[in-house]
Amino acid sequence: MEYNLLKGKRGIIFGALNEMSIAWKVAEMAHEQGAIFTLTNTPVACRMGTLNDLSEKCNAPVIPADATNVKDLEEVFSKSIELLGGKIDFVLHSIGMSLNVRKGCHYTEENYEFTAKGWDISALSFHKVLQVLYKNDAMNEWGSVVALTYMAAQRTFPDYNDMADNKAYLESIARSFGYFFGKNKKVRVNTISQSPTPTTAGKGVKGFDGFITYAEKMSPLGNATALECANYTVAMFSDLTRKVTMQNLFHDGGFSNTGVSQEVISAFTKE
Ligand SMILES: NC(=O)c1ccc[n+]([C@@H]2O[C@H](COP(=O)([O-])OP(=O)(O)OC[C@H]3O[C@@H](n4cnc5c(N)ncnc54)[C@H](O)[C@@H]3O)[C@@H](O)[C@H]2O)c1
Repeated sequence: MEYNLLKGKRGIIFGALNEMSIAWKVAEMAHEQGAIFTLTNTPVACRMGTLNDLSEKCNAPVIPADATNVKDLEEVFSKSIELLGGKIDFVLHSIGMSLNVRKGCHYTEENYEFTAKGWDISALSFHKVLQVLYKNDAMNEWGSVVALTYMAAQRTFPDYNDMADNKAYLESIARSFGYFFGKNKKVRVNTISQSPTPTTAGKGVKGFDGFITYAEKMSPLGNATALECANYTVAMFSDLTRKVTMQNLFHDGGFSNTGVSQEVISAFTKE
């Protein structure tokens, strides 16, 4: 469906790793809707090769950057403005990684060096992205910045580990920075809280298969897919959502407001 929702808009998309990535789907959808943009990921992720396929498909240059490194971010934004021919209209922050999860450290046995690194990558990098954009006046008025999050920021999911704390911090940044970006530059900042999605990061969470099936049975509309998340994100980048800012927006088929579903009751009912 081509609505040309992003025609004439310039963007930067962080976090496309492979075809499963939510950022990958956002890039494909943004391209379909007429946007031009650059793609960025860590130098290692860029070297892995698959990003070049997306780059060719969307005619989007790749600029390697570690999102925890302010100098790298400055370079991403200045190069993007140069390559795209003007200031930026939309940015996607689709970045997450927990070393405690990766190395199997339980939440009650956190390794604090891992915690600090994971927090820098998954949460503080969002502040860094916003601060560099803000200081360099890199965004056009009515621009839109979106970061992806998960409901473990509000409710406990035991195996989500320290990512729950990182997401709570990330969502708070959207509110706090969103105030200044709205007031002084007319730019909106939001987080989208997405259903469990089978991606490299998603599948890294212990017990993911059982959990995604549970979420599917709990959600009146079923889990939201990566493609559906891309549609919603593009809507948030478009001019149709100009007054939405400082929000955490649930995109989860109704999971977050469901106490229990008939399917889950049935699973626990003795005949
Ligand atoms: N998959 C899910 O179930 C789910 C649900 C809700 C929210 N999210 C969020 O969606 C976002 C995207 O994750 P995904 O599920 O598409 O998985 P993914 O593994 O495809 O994407 C994560 C990305 O983060 C990048 N990254 C890691 N360290 C980085 C750094 N230092 N600098 C720049 N980039 C870095 C990785 O290279 C990768 O591209 C994350 O914020 C994740 O927490 C995912």
